[in-house]
Amino acid sequence: MNAMNVSIIVPTYKEAKNITPLSEQIDRAMKDANLTYEIIVVDDDSKDGIIEAIEKIKDRYNIELKVRKSEKGLSSAVISGFGLVTGEVVVIMDADLSHPPAKIPELVAPILDGSCDFMIGSRFVKGGSAHHFNWYRKLNAWLSKMIARPFTRVSDPMAGFFAFPGKMLNPLPALNPLGFKIGLEMIVKASPKRISEVPIQFQERLFGESKLSLKEQIYYLIHITRLFEYKYKTLAEFTKFCLIGGFGMMVDLTFVYLSMQIFVIFGIVSKLFQFRIARVIGFIFAVTSNFLLNRRFTFSRAEQGNIYRQYLSFFLVSLIGFTINWLVSVYLYEHIHFFNTHYLTAAFMGILGGTVINFMGSKLFVFKH
Ligand code: GDD
Repeated sequence: MNAMNVSIIVPTYKEAKNITPLSEQIDRAMKDANLTYEIIVVDDDSKDGIIEAIEKIKDRYNIELKVRKSEKGLSSAVISGFGLVTGEVVVIMDADLSHPPAKIPELVAPILDGSCDFMIGSRFVKGGSAHHFNWYRKLNAWLSKMIARPFTRVSDPMAGFFAFPGKMLNPLPALNPLGFKIGLEMIVKASPKRISEVPIQFQERLFGESKLSLKEQIYYLIHITRLFEYKYKTLAEFTKFCLIGGFGMMVDLTFVYLSMQIFVIFGIVSKLFQFRIARVIGFIFAVTSNFLLNRRFTFSRAEQGNIYRQYLSFFLVSLIGFTINWLVSVYLYEHIHFFNTHYLTAAFMGILGGTVINFMGSKLFVFKH
C-alpha cells in the first residue's frame, strides 16, 4: 500500500457525537485538495458509544481507532497515536470541530513541498480568531503565550492544531507529556527550524464540553518549568542555586545573630573572638543547608552519590567561593575609587564572583555523575 499523504491524529474523550461530522469534514477537505489521508483516533475509554460510531464509518473515512484503558491525558494520547502514523505529514487536531478541517490542506502544503518544518493553526495571527472566548479565557491564552516566550515567538504556542513531517518522529527526543501542550513540547524538543502559522477561526465546540480545567492550567506551569530545565539546563540550575544561596544567606545571618546573643548572655567567649566564631558557625550552617537543598533540588540527578564525600567537597568548594568573594570585594574596595565609596556594590560583586565559583565547582566536581 502506498504511504498516505497525511495522518491525522485526533485525541478523544467523550466525543462520540462529534466524530462523524468531523470525519465527514476532513474527508471533504482532503478530497478537494487531492490528498490521501488516514484518521487515527486515540480514545481514553470514553464508553460513550464512540467505538460503535467509528465502526459504522471507519472504512468510508479510513479511520483507525485505538482505545486506551489504563492511561489518560490529551498529550499522552497524541504520543500513543504516533506509533500508528504512516503518512508523510502528521496533523494533530481536536475532535470537537473547534479546529476547522478545511484548513488542513493549508497546514499540510508547506510541509509537503519542503518549505516548512512545523505549521500551526493559529487563533492569534492576523486573520485568526477565537470569538467565543470570554475575558477569562482570553487573558489565560495571553498569559500562557507570554510564559512560553523563552521557547518560541509564535503567536499561538498553545495551539492543539498543528502539522509536521512524519520523519520528525524518527527519532523524536523523549517527550514528557503533561496536560494539553504537546505542540509546545515538540517545538522545544524537536527544534523545527522553520515554523509558520496559518490563521484559523477557532469555533465553539459542536457537542460536549471542554476538558481544559484549572488542573490543566497548573499542569501547564509545571510543564513550562520542565521545558525550561530541558532547554536552559545550566541557567535553570544556576537560578535554583542562587535562590538556595539567598536562603543560605538568611540561615547564615540567623545563626550569627543567635550565636552572638548566646555569647553575650552567657559571656562564654572573649569579646575579641565572639564575632569571628559567630561567622564560622553561621558559615557552617549555611553551607550545610545549601548542600542539602542543592543536592535535593538543583543537582537531584547526583542524589545516588556518596553524601559524605559530596558534603566534604561542597564544603571545600564553598570555602574557595567564600575566599574569592572576600578577595574580590576587598580588592575592589581598596583599589578602585568608585567601590571605596560604594562598598556594598563591592560586596555584591564579591558575592557574585563567589557564587559563580561555587556553582561551577558544585556542578563540575561535587555533584558530577
Ligand atoms: N484521549 C484523550 N484523553 N483525549 C482528550 C483528553 C484525554 O484525557 N482530554 C481532552 N481530550 C481531547 C478532547 O476530546 C478534544 O478532542 C481535544 O482533546 C481537546 O480537548 P478540549 O477539552 O476540547 O480542549 P479545549 O477546547 O478546551 O482546548 C483547546 O484549546 C487549547 C488552547 O486554549 C484545545 O485545542 C487544546 O489542544 C488547546 O491547547
